[in-house]
Amino acid sequence: MNELDLMTKIVSLCKRRGFVFQSSEIYGGLKSAYDYGPLGVELKRNIAAAWWRSMVYERDDIVGIDASIIMHPKVWETSGHVAGFSDPLVDCLNCKERFRGDKAPRAEVGSEVVFHEGGKSSGKKLKGHVGACGYVCPVCSSPNLSDERQFNGMFRTTLGPVDPLAEFFKEIKEKNLDEREMRAKYEECLKRSLVYLRPETAQAMFVQFLNVQQTTSMKVPFGIAQQGKSFRNEIVVEHFIFRSCEFEQMEMEFFIEPGTQDQWLKYWTDERMAWYKKYANSGESFRLRQHDKTELAHYSDDCYDVEYLYPWGWGELEGIASRTDYDLKRHGAATGSKLSYFDQNKADPETGKPGWRYVPYVIEPAAGLTRTVLAMLLDAYCEEKSVDANGQEKVRVLLKLHPALAPIKAAVLPLVKKDGQPEKAEAIAKELRRAGLNVACDDAQSIGKRYAKHDEVGTPYCITVDTQTLEDQTVTLRDRDTAQQERLTIPAAVAKVVEACRHP
Ligand code: GAP
Repeated sequence: MNELDLMTKIVSLCKRRGFVFQSSEIYGGLKSAYDYGPLGVELKRNIAAAWWRSMVYERDDIVGIDASIIMHPKVWETSGHVAGFSDPLVDCLNCKERFRGDKAPRAEVGSEVVFHEGGKSSGKKLKGHVGACGYVCPVCSSPNLSDERQFNGMFRTTLGPVDPLAEFFKEIKEKNLDEREMRAKYEECLKRSLVYLRPETAQAMFVQFLNVQQTTSMKVPFGIAQQGKSFRNEIVVEHFIFRSCEFEQMEMEFFIEPGTQDQWLKYWTDERMAWYKKYANSGESFRLRQHDKTELAHYSDDCYDVEYLYPWGWGELEGIASRTDYDLKRHGAATGSKLSYFDQNKADPETGKPGWRYVPYVIEPAAGLTRTVLAMLLDAYCEEKSVDANGQEKVRVLLKLHPALAPIKAAVLPLVKKDGQPEKAEAIAKELRRAGLNVACDDAQSIGKRYAKHDEVGTPYCITVDTQTLEDQTVTLRDRDTAQQERLTIPAAVAKVVEACRHP
């Protein structure tokens, strides 16, 4: 299958079957945000639950929190996001595309390039030379570009009833200010009520470090986990839900003793890779890549990405960073809070005296929930070709999602809409629901069409109720991946579905 075709097929399946819709579609849609439909929300919640389970429920050294999206604006000054969370924004003077300079195709400084006037292939062919920036427009290859300007990726809004624009107009009235002075005045007025939508969930775990440690008496090493929405005003949104402006993250800050970061970084990269491989079909589509020194963020002394082999190539799925003591130290210094830990069983390495107070180092596995939804859909998508009795080629589309992640765990299907079969199907569905599973009871269309529909949305099992069911209390259990059916008693079929849907 052509690789970009795969993306087109996934996007189409997502819309057709109710996984993901364009935000505000009937108003023309927003390119930067998506809505998760009835099946998408289930897949997303199941992935989130699998992560929470492995991070929090299966361990005694990590606890969870759910912090607010709007935090004190000083949090983002201290963390470095106000000054540093920006990307180089460039305008193409030929085709008017707006793009990130650091992601643009590289070209040798001074080399000659040919491009079409206005970016249209029908336009006149022009020649130009690559400027000192060393890149060209990603859309039309023109070297005629604006200067880079730093664009901060945080969304700004205001808190409270004050209208900063009204304040601004009051303040500039009858003052003859130039553009720079007016901008400074506007920023000053805005600052009085300015807040940001969080660009990552991580900072709340640092800011609440003391509250969590003191209320739980957790001992280092321990972690704080959180899932939730984050917002980034991305210059380029791309590849469907891969990069959007509103998305969800699953992050965990693991607080450790200084000097143990190498061992814990290795531990967490192994853990996280194993987690993805447990749920995926194709383990080879996941790999670890260490950042080279030039890629490291200002707070990090080492970092790995879990990468997935997307249709357009390897790309980030999760970052696992060794964040040193940067964040706790910065928030401690900015607020005067003692964001440190006292280990009474250790001697202070400097003085040799019993008891050691230190600022913990941090290992941070930071995953994208919505990006994992995309990776799991891509990993699960299969087409099986066969030839029917008339020699016609048939294609069976199926999503081989792990049963624990599948939106619908089983479809209970009466063969016909009469003879008590629908009622029997409903009773079996009720039993599965009692076991905590999301199931569908479906009597529309032919049985073949119903199987095809459930294959396409990843339902691991179809339970078919037929005439024999009412005679001997047996059903057929159809396996999505093999399309094979076996005849089982109702309790055996229910037990098999429940067992298969357990988390690995
Ligand atoms: N606290 C560290 C942090 O936020 P990051 O690498 O910027 O690190 C972590 O983000 C993960 O969040 C990424 O690996 C990716 O999966 C996801 N992510 C980041 N920006 C995203 C976006 N615009 N759209 C969707 N997912 C995004």
